[in-house]
Amino acid sequence: MPTLIVHGGAGADPADGRDELRAGVRAAVTAGWRVLGDGGRAVDAVEAAVRALEDHPRFNAGRGAVLTAAGTVELDASIMEGDRLRCGAVGAVRGIANAVTLARRVMDDGRHVLLVGDGALQFARAAGMPECDPTSLVTERQRLRWLDRERTAGAAGTVGAVALDRHGTMAAATSTGGIAGKLPGRVGDSALIGSGTYADSTLGGVSCTGDGEAIIRVVLARCALDYLKEADDATYAAQVAVDLLVDEGQGHGGLILLDWRGRTGYAHSTPLMPVGVMSPALPEPRVEF
Ligand code: GLY
Repeated sequence: MPTLIVHGGAGADPADGRDELRAGVRAAVTAGWRVLGDGGRAVDAVEAAVRALEDHPRFNAGRGAVLTAAGTVELDASIMEGDRLRCGAVGAVRGIANAVTLARRVMDDGRHVLLVGDGALQFARAAGMPECDPTSLVTERQRLRWLDRERTAGAAGTVGAVALDRHGTMAAATSTGGIAGKLPGRVGDSALIGSGTYADSTLGGVSCTGDGEAIIRVVLARCALDYLKEADDATYAAQVAVDLLVDEGQGHGGLILLDWRGRTGYAHSTPLMPVGVMSPALPEPRVEF
């Protein structure tokens, strides 16, 4: 049964703006479901869902991403299709509003898995992708946060989606601005297949959010699928993986998981992680905090 699960990032509970987060996640599920519900491919659905969140200024991806220590926006993203383990990723990219689509182009091109920085930008230009003024990705909210960076540095929040289509193909995608105040050139888990994103159509798909360095240390996305293989329980696998992130990785965050039967699971160690789900069994997208 086709199923889509989306997250809007693990993080602190904002004093205000919960309704905005809820509406943003709902719009992303709707964008992805427009593809998946019509019989489209899982990889197109996750790209559409993540693009919607990148375009929404309230999420830490695309426009609205957190700023580096230098006050710039550098984006990481990855995407994976689980039939033949095809994948693509970009890191520390500037001047591209939809990093997930650039990651998709890297995947479809097939020569490499990960391109970073200027090389990724050159690839985007050669692929005919639209560029934007890097400053157009800086929102007033993130600019003010950067000015107050002594207090807010390190806070994370990333977006992602996992989908299973009617052909039984699994796909996952993740996109982020990384952690606030990061050094220019820092690449986090969201650009790393196996850490921030993984999809294997025989098992399931995962998208992670949270402290990137901790997620990388425990190779979280792939680990979550190993737990799923052992336990055959999506919710349990998600929780055990987050426990691993906290205990062994020494960090906080969360993940969404979808198994090959279309069963969803998610867990987080942070106060908040908005999650949206849609399947033919639901009358409309279900958004949970
Ligand atoms: N999980 C997002 C990052 O740390 O880059």
